[in-house]
Amino acid sequence: MRNKIKRIISLKSKRKLVCLTAYSKPIAKILDNHCDMILVGDSMATAFYGMENTKSISLKTIINHSIAVKKGTSKSTLVVDMPINTYKNFKIAKKNVIEVFKQTKCDAVKLESNGKNFDIIRKLVKLGFPVMGHIGYTPQNKKKFEPQGIKKDEEKKLIKESLEIEKAGAFSLVLECIAEKTSKKITNITSVPTIGIGSSKFCDGQILVTDDLIGLSGFKPKFVKKYINLKKILEKTFTKFKTDVLKQKFPAKKNSYN
Ligand code: KIV
Repeated sequence: MRNKIKRIISLKSKRKLVCLTAYSKPIAKILDNHCDMILVGDSMATAFYGMENTKSISLKTIINHSIAVKKGTSKSTLVVDMPINTYKNFKIAKKNVIEVFKQTKCDAVKLESNGKNFDIIRKLVKLGFPVMGHIGYTPQNKKKFEPQGIKKDEEKKLIKESLEIEKAGAFSLVLECIAEKTSKKITNITSVPTIGIGSSKFCDGQILVTDDLIGLSGFKPKFVKKYINLKKILEKTFTKFKTDVLKQKFPAKKNSYN
């Protein structure tokens, strides 16, 4: 197993894992000093491209952004999200995952669980490709947003699903919008790190969409903490630029060639 992946697994019992998304080199370069894992998420569809949901993003677009993110990443483990329909069966998954690793030089790929695709994970891992699982609210195959694992039967299903994914060989597992009691149980019974998004402090690590955390996406569900309102800061900055241009304060002499 690759060293970066071994390190992520070994941190489960030591400290919380820090993970964020990146779609560009400059953001990845900053995150690289702070994150254990950087995810090139299909959330770029909504957060970056303004698409209605994550289902319209293509593999080519994810690959292009991942190539850029890789340029800003050296220490962190780089995980690339596989878009919908790119891992429908093992044959398709194998072809696309080989392409992703070849072009992006990433460390791992992430596959959303549909409750049935464990064998695809197992076969990819057997070929030597590290896979991160993703359960709970999985946007690629859920119609409407809803917290998961609140009812007893849902909890049972999620626990079974997480154990199947672990058995298939995934090195970590994203838990999205799963009830606190359920994510706590999953974290306790699995031996690979659980990375929560809207799934309580009991996960082994946390991930957020960076654009949500910095206040750029305008998306603010309950589980997001906005650490800075970058949109407000940028509004002020661009207003100042506009005023300077209109009043001919910019460019000044020092910004001109003589
Ligand atoms: O696409 C993404 O950014 C994700 C995270 C929300 C985990 O899958």
